[in-house]
Amino acid sequence: MSRTQRTKAPAVILVHGGVGSPLSWQDGCQKAVEAARVVLQRTGDALASAVEAVRVMEYDGRFNAGCGSSLRLDGKTVEMDAAVMDSRGKLGAVAVVSNVRNPVLVARAVADTPHVAVAGQGATALARGLGLSGAFRASSFARERWRWWQGALQRRRAGEVPEAWRGFDLRRHWNFPGPYDALLQPLDTVGAVVRGPDGGFAVASSTGGASPMLRGRVGDVPFMGCGFYAGQHGAVAVTGVGEEIIRRMLARVIYDRMGAGAAPQVACDEGVALFPAEVAVGAIAVSATGQGVAANREMACADVAFPVTVSKARGTRR
Ligand code: GLY
Repeated sequence: MSRTQRTKAPAVILVHGGVGSPLSWQDGCQKAVEAARVVLQRTGDALASAVEAVRVMEYDGRFNAGCGSSLRLDGKTVEMDAAVMDSRGKLGAVAVVSNVRNPVLVARAVADTPHVAVAGQGATALARGLGLSGAFRASSFARERWRWWQGALQRRRAGEVPEAWRGFDLRRHWNFPGPYDALLQPLDTVGAVVRGPDGGFAVASSTGGASPMLRGRVGDVPFMGCGFYAGQHGAVAVTGVGEEIIRRMLARVIYDRMGAGAAPQVACDEGVALFPAEVAVGAIAVSATGQGVAANREMACADVAFPVTVSKARGTRR
């Protein structure tokens, strides 16, 4: 026999669009929060909610994740990383996965296997086998961003820039659909942290990497404690230059500060302050008592906090 228990608790969903994402893209973050809210209200499952937020941003095309992922230096290769974790012990990551629409769904699937991480062709084949590939195509925004990087790399080499372009004011003459600054900014990773109605925490993160990149390069996102962390004290999602974040294990540093009693905002501020100004970095976090956002560049974000009533079947003791 079972009876229904109704639980009321404030829930929080907080997402970021990556350090460097312009505030004008907050509509994409807001859409992700709304989709995640529907899932949380329906299921009460913080992890399902965080995954849904990231899945929606992977579809957006502007953020550096999913179809918006940065192209590698050859202008063709797209290799993505994603991870999920929650305070119940679910943990899954994929690295350098290709031809997959939603790497975060593959990371979620890995969390149901005996492994915690699957990489490269194995990850791509796993996605295909589970019917999670979809028809991947890099967004037009991702392609434009790659072209911009090619130009930037060429300009850096003296003598290779055509004379007519030396003093040309490209910003003033920019006539592409996206704003010049948005293409100029190195973009990074999307992420979501959720506090569920039962007080549990979850994080999901997804990225196309950080331009420019060689084939096979892996950043912080699939490494637990670097790009993400979730446990009894809260959940943390990090964005920025992967090589620098891994060296400092930023997500775990922020989590440990919350565990020692710091408010999430203080923990995020202190974490970002560990990096020199020239290294782009950002973080979001949620704990039992609050939430925090910090970045040393512009970073689109959105959040919602609301009381949730979830119907739960509770088994009777035998
Ligand atoms: N933060 C994403 C990366 O470095 O790959």
